[in-house]
Amino acid sequence: MTMQERPLNPFDVSQDALYVEDTWREPFARLRAEMPLSWREESPFGAYWSAVTHDLVQEVELRHDVFSSRWDMGNITIADAVNGEGFPNFIAQDPPIHTAQRRVIAPAFSPSQMLKLDKQVRERTKMLMDGLPVGEPFDWVERVSIPQTLGMLCILFDMPFEEWRDIKRWSDWASGVSAENLNDEYRAQFLAQMGEMLARFDRELEDRRGKPPTDDLLSRMVHSEAMGHMEPMERIANIALLIVGGNDTTRNSMTALVEAFDKYPDQLERLRADRSLIPNAAQEIIRWQSPVTHMRRTALEDTELGGQVIRKGEKIVMWYISANRDERVFPDAERFDVGRENARRHLGFGHGIHRCVGAKLAENQLATLIGEIVDRNIRIVPQGAPERLPSPFLHGFTSLPVRIEPQ
Ligand code: HEM
Repeated sequence: MTMQERPLNPFDVSQDALYVEDTWREPFARLRAEMPLSWREESPFGAYWSAVTHDLVQEVELRHDVFSSRWDMGNITIADAVNGEGFPNFIAQDPPIHTAQRRVIAPAFSPSQMLKLDKQVRERTKMLMDGLPVGEPFDWVERVSIPQTLGMLCILFDMPFEEWRDIKRWSDWASGVSAENLNDEYRAQFLAQMGEMLARFDRELEDRRGKPPTDDLLSRMVHSEAMGHMEPMERIANIALLIVGGNDTTRNSMTALVEAFDKYPDQLERLRADRSLIPNAAQEIIRWQSPVTHMRRTALEDTELGGQVIRKGEKIVMWYISANRDERVFPDAERFDVGRENARRHLGFGHGIHRCVGAKLAENQLATLIGEIVDRNIRIVPQGAPERLPSPFLHGFTSLPVRIEPQ
């Protein structure tokens, strides 16, 4: 392997500003055209490689024997684990631990389980939409996206719906990747919140331990060999994974829907004319929004990727948000197109052994919400610009004022 000059990334694409100000498209388009794999020395998160095309992101995902997810090798986001205090959940493990723990969780998302949840998803969505004011402004994030996704999590964990505010708070703390948060005070608050979350979930886990196994996620965990006897930090990390995984991501695609239908009203009309396109529209919104902006891997050895030499220990960030705009795979990629033939090829759920275990559930929830919007003959009209989340990890919204208008 020869050491050649690295293509130096002139942009720090880890800055919150790009996402808060919604100015990420241009730097990523230039990187895709000029340097699909590039090196950035300076950033609040240290030096990192950026893979920005569809083929390179897939390649990194598939070479999991070299590009590790292990928390104790680095982390799964651009922010390194602080002082070796990582988050040892199964998304942050490699085989064989990853394989064994994923096997415990995956059956909770099987097609037959999804069918069981489908009725509850439909009822909840309908009730939520029925309760929305018509002709008056309200915040779509607060009234729809948040309660819709948290309600689903309460069903999955078989916990009372009234507890959704606590789950939301813990989820927000667990996912707070931002340069602003790299300090001891944040870390102390974070650990306090995680301790509170663990105390609450431990009560549920102990309750399940004393009973015969059932289908709910927590019961599956305590009654399994791979997850039945985890240390406190491993329990915290795995519970946080399930609530963050199932929460912010789906929430942000639900808000993106309003933005997409507002920018491309013809696409809503197209769905009204042909309801069979709804499942594809759910795929397309995940491609278009990319609710998880990136995932990160760490090189376990010196290797080559995209014609570059990668050194052992270096971090490689896979920018899904850019891969999903790759024009070589998605023509006219900026356009939200509910009939896009290859929308399913998006990398918003990742790829390979870590591909999102909750993907089917997320798609069902989104398709149900789209169906409700389609059937109601309404327009959801933004009443100003959305407020966007300051994070290079989760691509989301903190609020979106809207008004529902009958058509
Ligand atoms: C993994 C995205 C919904 C639970 C992932 C990954 C991504 C992702 C990008 C990592 C894939 C990789 O590294 O290759 C999303 C998006 C969602 C969503 C965009 C919604 C639109 C959900 C839901 C749940 C969930 C509803 C569960 C309730 C998980 C878990 C993993 C994961 C447990 C770890 C899988 C593993 O490491 O094997 N998701 N997710 N996600 N997701 Fe999701």
